[in-house]
Amino acid sequence: MTLLQWTERLELGDPAMDDTHREFVDLLNRLAESDDAAFVARLDRLLEHTVAHFAQEERWMADSGLGTPCHAAEHQQVIDVCRAVRERVVGGDLALGRRLAAELAPWFENHAATKDTILVGHMQRAGYAAQRDPVFEA
Ligand SMILES: [Fe+2]
Ligand SMILES: [Fe+2]
Repeated sequence: MTLLQWTERLELGDPAMDDTHREFVDLLNRLAESDDAAFVARLDRLLEHTVAHFAQEERWMADSGLGTPCHAAEHQQVIDVCRAVRERVVGGDLALGRRLAAELAPWFENHAATKDTILVGHMQRAGYAAQRDPVFEA
């Protein structure tokens, strides 16, 4: 069963953000569906994408003049948790890794509905056209 279904409610109306979020959901689902052998590699792929996803949003905030330290702080907390869990998974605690994947789904739904929605609204009002970072096109 798919962990997190892409639905209209996740569509925030900014194509650059929505494309990045669709990729996040896809990578998260792949992690949740992974067998034990591929788990760390898929977690690393999600982490790498998430670091770039968050850095991109923080660039958009800076470039469009939105000062939201709590948004960036939440990003950092998630990265820190993911990195800590990754180390535990490498140490053999696969169950914790699977719990992380399960919890990232509701976290993402909430984050998209709040902080990312506020960012999209700000960019639209400011007439700021968000562009994807080149790392995503590689
Ligand atoms: Fe986001
Ligand atoms: Fe965000």
